[in-house]
Amino acid sequence: MTMPRRAAQAFTAVLLAASTVTALSHTAAAADTLGSAAAGKGRYFGTAVAANHLGESAYASTLDREFNQVTPENEMKWDATEGSRNTFTFGNADQIVSHAQSQNMKVRGHTLVWHSQLPSWVSGLGATDLRSAMNNHITQVMQHYKGKIYAWDVVNEAYQDGSSGALRSSPFADKLGSGFIEEAFRTARSVDPNAKLCYNDYNTDGVNAKSNAVYAMVKDFKSRGVPIDCVGFQSHFNSASPVPSDYQANLQRFADLGVDVQITELDIEGSGTAQANNYSNVVKACLAVTRCTGLTVWGVTDKYSWRSSGTPLLFDSNYGKKPAYDAALAALGGTGTPGGGDGGNPGGNATCTVSFARTSDWNDGYNGEVTVKAGSAPINGWTVTLTFATPQKVASLWNGTPSWDSSGTVMTVRAASYNSSLAAGASTSFGFTAAKNGNNSTPTLGACTAS
Ligand code: XIL
Repeated sequence: MTMPRRAAQAFTAVLLAASTVTALSHTAAAADTLGSAAAGKGRYFGTAVAANHLGESAYASTLDREFNQVTPENEMKWDATEGSRNTFTFGNADQIVSHAQSQNMKVRGHTLVWHSQLPSWVSGLGATDLRSAMNNHITQVMQHYKGKIYAWDVVNEAYQDGSSGALRSSPFADKLGSGFIEEAFRTARSVDPNAKLCYNDYNTDGVNAKSNAVYAMVKDFKSRGVPIDCVGFQSHFNSASPVPSDYQANLQRFADLGVDVQITELDIEGSGTAQANNYSNVVKACLAVTRCTGLTVWGVTDKYSWRSSGTPLLFDSNYGKKPAYDAALAALGGTGTPGGGDGGNPGGNATCTVSFARTSDWNDGYNGEVTVKAGSAPINGWTVTLTFATPQKVASLWNGTPSWDSSGTVMTVRAASYNSSLAAGASTSFGFTAAKNGNNSTPTLGACTAS
């Protein structure tokens, strides 16, 4: 039976006003973010996060829209958590963990035992004291985050570069001998048996003397029942240290030892197509290895990268999607805006601002209106993110194209074909009807991204 359009509209309006509306086919939405596309492949896609940038709206909205895993970039390191002996400071790391929890993101704990960013009081200890300080550090930090961390980098960067295959000189190796790694993992398992315990390193991404040494250690641990669940491959690449041709084979040989593998700190210096191809190859290598459970890039935006001058990340300094982003998303099987990249934003000066109004309210629903305004340059497209309180559902939306994250709470709205181009300073609006389902909150409005 077909209804005249007016009658159909009236019928819809009645339905929306009824208190039983929960409809919305979130699942039909295309996987058009890194996190949702990775989830479609049974993986996560994460980023390193710095607590001091969470207050920047474009940073937070890009993070929340695209990623479903975070690693605190510095906030869980020994110098940040135990600057003086047995005095623990968790404020900055807590901020990241609670942000992640509010967004349903996994958290990787980074890192418990590492020679770098290690307070000098630790380096000054004698062997007996150092052993108890190490075990106490692992215990206190893991205890604080128990139940909130999917995996810990228990030991980071213990091996030397080059051909020796030996442990790197560090207070731990020098004073406790090679057994410190095993001891750290055993202590970690006893504190939080539910967290995955990982060894993490760099220059181990291909088959070489250093990765052979790590491989031998993991094999030994597995054969003797030393608790280890995963190996992280940092994957910091540039022209001096390119993506190895045997990257996938190397991941696979570790996976074959019975551990999960993860890409933990990915960044690839470069730009344009060359960088995009490298990102694509890394993503494809992970997807080709069943036990490669996820990837983490080492930062949201080139603006704050630890190697900023090498522009190694997926978003440029204005949070624009780079060709590398499009390539990573495509490799994950996602569907981005065709011709995304920086093509529509060559000068990087396309900006927009956004505002929200709740335009009408009834018992179990409300209408929202979002106004997008171009900045001082014309724009060709825009994207806005809104995060809804559970169990609210958007029942209909007009003048925009919605898609949803896997949790069904974060809605990303792209321009419709007819309202994507705005002159400098011009505005357009889209609207939606939400079912409250018992929760009267107003959604959180993310930043506007323009191209
Ligand atoms: C880096 C951070 O990105 C910087 O902000 C900090 O100044 C130094 O450490 N290997 C690791 C990471 O395991 O913790 C490092 O992070 C990069 C190399």
